[in-house]
Amino acid sequence: MNLVLVGFMGSGKSEVGRRLAELLDMELVDTDDIVESRAGASISRLFEQEGEPVFRALEREAVAEAAGTSERIIACGGGAVLDPRNVDVLRSSGVVFYLEIGDEDAQRRTAGNESRPLLNVGDREGEIRRLLEERRPLYESAAHHRIFVDGKSIEEVVQEVLDIWRR
Ligand code: S3P
Repeated sequence: MNLVLVGFMGSGKSEVGRRLAELLDMELVDTDDIVESRAGASISRLFEQEGEPVFRALEREAVAEAAGTSERIIACGGGAVLDPRNVDVLRSSGVVFYLEIGDEDAQRRTAGNESRPLLNVGDREGEIRRLLEERRPLYESAAHHRIFVDGKSIEEVVQEVLDIWRR
């Protein structure tokens, strides 16, 4: 059984995943890392040189690879839920947690980070609002459990995930 983390950019999937991996003594895999190592390029560069569809195709392979074995923590890129095939693969490989972040925290927690091509646009605030609105239902239907992260520390979020995981 895998422990899968989905949610918007900045919701803390990577950090929460790292901490959970330590505490549960499980391996952490991050779909963005798999994509970058397969492509031999950063995600920014991939978007720039190949475009989003190529990134999404690599992401789909990364999700399938990550979910292909068990007893792992899988931190997914924020857009992994856009493809229903990813959702199926993830849900059937384990328990999916949606780290739910609101507009304001998402703005704050992604500010100053240039490594997310989707947010390097003129109207960043508007784009975050738009993407969140579009994706909220997808995260909700992908997840078995929903954890609100606004205003919480990584440790608090980790504890909430653990309480459910250990039930
Ligand atoms: C994306 C989220 C990013 C990364 C890529 C696209 C998205 O991952 O996969 O920039 O579509 O939301 P993080 O959620 O880890 O930032």
